[in-house]
Amino acid sequence: MEKKYKRTLITSALPYANGPVHIGHLAGVYVPADIYARYLRLKGEDVVFVGGSDEHGVPITIKARNEGVTPQDIVDRYHKIIKDSFEELGISFDVYGRTTSETHRKTASEFFRRLYEKGEFVEQTSQQLYDEEAGQFLADRYVTGTCPHCGFEGAYGDQCEKCGTSLNATDLINPKSAITGSVPVMRETKHWYLPLDKWEPKLRQWILEEHKEWKPNVYGQCKSWLDMGLQPRAVSRDLSWGIPVPVEGAEGKVLYVWFDAPIGYISNTIDLLPNDWEKWWKDPETRMLHFIGKDNIVFHCIVFPAMLMADGTYNLPENVPANEFLNLEDDKISTSRNWAVWLHEYLRELPGKQDVLRYVLTANAPETKDNNFTWKDFQTRNNSELVAILGNFVNRAMVLIQKYYDGVVPECGELTDFDRQMIEETQKSVKELGEYLDVFKFREALKEAMNVARIGNKYLADSEPWKVIKTDPERVKTILNLSVQLCASLAVIFEPFTPFMSADLIKQLHLDKLSWDMAGKFDIVAAGTKLEKPTLLFEKIEDSVIDAQIEKLRKAKEENEKKNWKPEPVKETVDFPTFEKMDIRVGKVLDCKKVKKADKLLEFRIDDGMGGRTIVSGIAKYYAPEDLIGKEVCFIANFEPRKLKGVVSEGMILSAVNSDGSLVVIGPNGEVAPGSSVG
Ligand code: 2FM
Ligand code: ZN
Repeated sequence: MEKKYKRTLITSALPYANGPVHIGHLAGVYVPADIYARYLRLKGEDVVFVGGSDEHGVPITIKARNEGVTPQDIVDRYHKIIKDSFEELGISFDVYGRTTSETHRKTASEFFRRLYEKGEFVEQTSQQLYDEEAGQFLADRYVTGTCPHCGFEGAYGDQCEKCGTSLNATDLINPKSAITGSVPVMRETKHWYLPLDKWEPKLRQWILEEHKEWKPNVYGQCKSWLDMGLQPRAVSRDLSWGIPVPVEGAEGKVLYVWFDAPIGYISNTIDLLPNDWEKWWKDPETRMLHFIGKDNIVFHCIVFPAMLMADGTYNLPENVPANEFLNLEDDKISTSRNWAVWLHEYLRELPGKQDVLRYVLTANAPETKDNNFTWKDFQTRNNSELVAILGNFVNRAMVLIQKYYDGVVPECGELTDFDRQMIEETQKSVKELGEYLDVFKFREALKEAMNVARIGNKYLADSEPWKVIKTDPERVKTILNLSVQLCASLAVIFEPFTPFMSADLIKQLHLDKLSWDMAGKFDIVAAGTKLEKPTLLFEKIEDSVIDAQIEKLRKAKEENEKKNWKPEPVKETVDFPTFEKMDIRVGKVLDCKKVKKADKLLEFRIDDGMGGRTIVSGIAKYYAPEDLIGKEVCFIANFEPRKLKGVVSEGMILSAVNSDGSLVVIGPNGEVAPGSSVG
């Protein structure tokens, strides 16, 4: 049931400050959250949009250790990169905080203390893995081993990234410490657990009964968690990086990162509104929305709500519009494989193209299922949609007004049925667009917005003011007045999606301030207004720009393959007589040419010291034939002759297989007479 609310608190997942953000984060979380925040603001609603960096957690400490710096150095570096790049992309946070702030330490500690004093935690000692060499317990990611479900050897203590199963470090087969590589031992340790089982009935009622309107992917995941039955969850860890557990006898223990991170939403609201924050978190007339990716669903729909229930004074989220994942060029985005488009690099390499990225990521948003980003699609959407539809309509209307009226908006005369039909269609699209935004269907909303630009193009094309000007100049005034009004509507409805373009258009149209109710109205720009000289809203993106990005990805893949390359395991042992059966010789290449109708094969004539022989070898992809003439090579002389593409090959030329699969011919390291044996 729709509830009435007075204000909306929008949170977006706090990205870990152990790396920059990429397009997957943007499409899943930050672009949709920003669209929604901007939309509500345009509607004049009271909104706070909270963001910030998540600066705790084991991966940060591992990265620091690997680089020989402190965890604080790591989070300082990435917090700045992330914050600056969000700002440049126009993500309109009202506050962007960090979980290493003093406000956050205090807020999270007090939150823990309140629950502790209310008796909401269960204290439990258990056996956990301990690295004797490093002298510390091994939380989650500090342990790697074999996944008990799928047998993957590089599984982490909290999750197997191969099969996705969430694990306990003690589940791993052959566990190894990620710090020292040593085999950990079991040692007793005490932790505080939040008994999720206690909150299960309430959570069931709240989600499964009262929030059937949540997106099916979110509702479904919650239902399957609840149906499996909830277990108490440890909210502390044996680590030195984090917020110390604020009770006696907790030396060396910090709050689990997933306990402190969502409290970051509260801390950041406190930083923004020190005297007024409670209204945003506790007044039932505030509606809270969490924008997140699908990997965060359990924490935002079950764990954090259970924490809020345990406190008892906070609102629960009204909706959690989580998205699925975005792939890149048909492959999973991966930080470790550097298979990503990083925001800070995009901003540097494609300057001034923030709106294009926002547009493409929304058009391809993984709202109901995983989706794919490709650079070719990026180019097409820019050139055929932003430039050819939106930019084209606005530019044509503005240029005609410059040409006929020196940039002064003409009066609107009597409307024809044709005009009325255009107005009606526009208003219908605007209405539908709003309805889609209300239910977080941003892709559909964007389609409707582009449809309004299409309506404009069709209106101009069908009414042909450039022809009518010769016969009925009065009529042209009406056509162009209405066209300019349509431009104003576009400035409004595109603002949530492409705010930089809107800001440009506002300037060109001399509008003061936009509001949602201006959309679909046809009396926004007063006749007599002198417009600015039009400039292009979008520019074509050339092939060279796209090719450079595709090449960059290709290189990243190549580098990664090189980095991860391992020699093949050694084959079964052979004895000397078996080895001796192989007659390896040195020969000199007398001639070399391509084999007809075979793009992989080269035909060699070899001086083998015994009158010469022909050998065919599959290395045409890696050598120009003329480069091999005169070279000395090793070949197997007693290899059974074979016919390849009509040529009889009398032996096999030896090559090494490189890490990328390419072949390099093997030869002696000094001068050797043709026919000499190798052994
Ligand atoms: O998955 C992540 O990137 C987490 N850092 C998200 C945290 S969201 C919130 F709870 F802070
Ligand atoms: Zn697995």
